[in-house]
Amino acid sequence: MKKVLKLLGYSVLVIIFTAASFAGYVAISGIPTYTPGKVNLKIDVTPVKVERGRKYASMLCITCHLDPSTGKLTGKRLADVPPSFGVSYSKNITRDPIYGVGAWTNGEIAYLLRTGITRTGRYAPPWMPKFPHMSDEDLGSVISFLRSDDPLTAPAAVNPPGISKPSFLTKLLTHVVFKPLPYPTAPILTPAATDQVAYGRYLSVNLGCFACHSANFRSNNELEPEKSAGYMGGGNPLQDESGQLVLSANLTPDPSGLAQWNESDFTRALRTGIRPDHTVLSYPMSPAPELTNADAHAIYAYLRTVPKIHNVVARTERPAVAAGTNQGKTLYYHYGCNSCHGDSGSGVGDLRHATQDYPTDPQLEAFIRHASSFKPGTKMPEWNGIIGESEYTPLIGYIRELGRTAASSESSQ
Ligand code: HEC
Ligand code: HEC
Ligand code: HEC
Repeated sequence: MKKVLKLLGYSVLVIIFTAASFAGYVAISGIPTYTPGKVNLKIDVTPVKVERGRKYASMLCITCHLDPSTGKLTGKRLADVPPSFGVSYSKNITRDPIYGVGAWTNGEIAYLLRTGITRTGRYAPPWMPKFPHMSDEDLGSVISFLRSDDPLTAPAAVNPPGISKPSFLTKLLTHVVFKPLPYPTAPILTPAATDQVAYGRYLSVNLGCFACHSANFRSNNELEPEKSAGYMGGGNPLQDESGQLVLSANLTPDPSGLAQWNESDFTRALRTGIRPDHTVLSYPMSPAPELTNADAHAIYAYLRTVPKIHNVVARTERPAVAAGTNQGKTLYYHYGCNSCHGDSGSGVGDLRHATQDYPTDPQLEAFIRHASSFKPGTKMPEWNGIIGESEYTPLIGYIRELGRTAASSESSQ
């Protein structure tokens, strides 16, 4: 008996020692590097491809790579990455040959987007999405867009405003859970839009619906999405731009999911971010005005075919509007402006310059009501009919206050 215990003691020691050395190795070596494959990819950049690429990029790349203060894809701090993963900045992906991806070959960009491995061999962190199922045509379109003369991709010789500091957890996960994906060996075709369910699945996989809407990023199966734990059943813990917890919704046709939603409810929520009960969806669920009605109908048709999961997901609590002192601030949080604009007013869109852009209150109010008539295709929701008529004045007061706070902290630096 004593001998057995002794043996057991040794093996525990060995395990602890191995675990400790592995932890030390992970901490020192950081995110693993790989040898990037060489891909020769010729793309005929056509206006049609650039347009299709712009549509995908504005749903798939812009929220992370656009710095609202440069107005270009120069990279920014990703405020919605949970602190346990460390600090993360995206990169400059403009056409600048030194700071951006102007000198990357088509093959190098494609290899990164498919596998997650950059041209220097670094593994892009798990939250930078990978696109193993996107058709060759659509992937080529995204690359064509990056090459195009769109103002978003105009060369900008700037670095992102900071340097990423991955946490030990991120390093550990990239050693054991998150691995690069294989580069596809066979051609990938876009399903015909007339095959509604197949096309809906294609869109939903490539737009990352399953990635956010299954149980957890860690148990997702990127190569065989349907094998992800809790496929489309929601509950994945995410964060908005002010660091608040937001659980993804259940999209399966279960009563705890979208059973009661009809096609037009769904289309409106997807394209404008407004639910049937007139509440606005929180970031990171961004409105996708880029999608056509037909695209949204296809995704809806596909989601109707997904196995039901019973999972009641709690919605983000928004503070009630108190009649107290700073009513404007309370309204800002009540309507979830903070989910996109953060606590400071800058996030996926920067509202701190609104005072210069819309000097009078009626101008600013008109923008908040109908942003898309000022900026077609914007992801700023239409608030007309959602914000109470008497609430615009205090809310605008608070927006101007956020602008003044930002201006005074800039001038005191
Ligand atoms: C969820 C946020 C997120 C989204 C969405 C996203 N990226 Fe990224 N991307 C990142 C981060 C973070 C990095 C930095 C990776 C690193 O540190 O190595 C990155 C790196 C890159 C790089 C490498 C740049 C370099 O200099 O190493 C390219 C190219 C790129 N992204 C292109 C894209 C494209 C194209 C899309 C859309 C199809 C996209 N990204 C979508 C977060 C994102
Ligand atoms: C970056 C993560 C992310 C992606 C990608 C994403 N969603 Fe969401 N989605 C969320 C979160 C988080 C919520 C919950 C928002 C809230 O509680 O306000 C949500 C909510 C929704 C809702 C509202 C459901 C309800 O019951 O309120 C619908 C519908 C929806 N998403 C559909 C989609 C579809 C379709 C796609 C793909 C085109 C998609 N989402 C992609 C994160 C995401
Ligand atoms: C779903 C994300 C989202 C939510 C929620 C949101 N916004 Fe915005 N907002 C944006 C984006 C993106 C822009 C940038 C507009 C553009 O350039 O297309 C913006 C721009 C603005 C601007 C104009 C800034 C300027 O100078 O041009 C104001 C003002 C504004 N938002 C106010 C609000 C208020 C008030 C709320 C809450 C009632 C709110 N936003 C909620 C995404 C959002």
